[in-house]
Amino acid sequence: MYDENVVKETIAIHTETYNKEPATVSYAPGRIEVLGNHTDYNAGTTFSCAINMGHCFCISASDKPGVRLTAGDLRETAEFDPTTPDALEKKYQWANYVKGVMHYLRGFDVEINGVDCTFLGSIPMGAGLSSSAALEVATAYAVLSYTGKEIDKIDIAKIGQRAEHEFAGCSCGLLDQFSSIYGIHHGLIHSDFRTLETYPVQLPADVVFLMINPHVKHALAESPYNARRQSCEKAAAQLNELVDYEVTALRDIKFEDFEALKDKLDPEAAQRATHVVGEIYRVEEGVQLLKDGKLKEFGQFLYDSHETSRTAFENSCDELDIVVAAAREAGALGARLSGGGWGGSAVALVHASEADAICEKIIEICRAKNIEPTAEIIIPSAGATVVR
Ligand code: GLA
Repeated sequence: MYDENVVKETIAIHTETYNKEPATVSYAPGRIEVLGNHTDYNAGTTFSCAINMGHCFCISASDKPGVRLTAGDLRETAEFDPTTPDALEKKYQWANYVKGVMHYLRGFDVEINGVDCTFLGSIPMGAGLSSSAALEVATAYAVLSYTGKEIDKIDIAKIGQRAEHEFAGCSCGLLDQFSSIYGIHHGLIHSDFRTLETYPVQLPADVVFLMINPHVKHALAESPYNARRQSCEKAAAQLNELVDYEVTALRDIKFEDFEALKDKLDPEAAQRATHVVGEIYRVEEGVQLLKDGKLKEFGQFLYDSHETSRTAFENSCDELDIVVAAAREAGALGARLSGGGWGGSAVALVHASEADAICEKIIEICRAKNIEPTAEIIIPSAGATVVR
């Protein structure tokens, strides 16, 4: 299921702007990262889900060459040549994700030109819910459908990632695009970024996730995200010299070897890697816990994850710490920052019957600390789709 309201609205804006109904309409959801923080670019594993908010993308033919692209929320239109690799001027930065995707699709013989496009999303900006990945995936699905071409889903994810790297300056992994593509209704996806495989994990019926947004600014390209990635790569390279097996990424180091060797590493690299190696361990253990219905133990992993985000990876912030502490006090099974960090949202796992009460309690506790978060239930949703 997709967010019908945003689809209806995007179609209406497109028709009004270009005096024409769209020929193609696609939709791709945002995501929450449940566990496995900064593990994706370390060839690790994650738990995540697509959410009930996303981006819709519409295309119709134009009699002019180039691409006209309207941002539905801003009601602004950018024009660009999809065949050139350069980014648009700052004013139209939002168009770069789309231009990037159209550009890299050309490497797969998927060429689009002479079109009018519109996009609109229901994902709050800067909430750490991967609004940009949803836009990239929605763009790719729409362009592929419009041109009648098909490419592998993994390549769609990689094209979105490349647009982030080259057009937005963030050296992200594939988690966001994978979640948007492979999401399943009322389930998590367990992704392995070494094999690039994903496995659906059904959730027990009596639990839900809350998304708690303290509304603090979040822009990964300006955050220390790329520096963290470099620290992890440095730790992996140093560990490779210290063990008798190959360590090409932090995924490869055995947990006990890391514990025994971490003092021999560059101190900052070791500190960052502590969080990532712990996360990889927690995701692996977490699979079994979820299968066994051990939700309290799984929830504790979420709290543990937040703790090493805060102390070792240093990608939390005061507001997220307060929100997570409030979730614990309010009785959530687990809570942690979700996604890149340095702002964005926290995710909490709660029993469905307690969800409303816990949301209210979290808001009340945070208010007493001068924070006004929003807290809402997230419905794990199906991945990207072509609507028409
Ligand atoms: C952002 C990135 C992802 C991933 C997470 C942290 O969402 O885009 O690739 O690294 O941060 O787990």
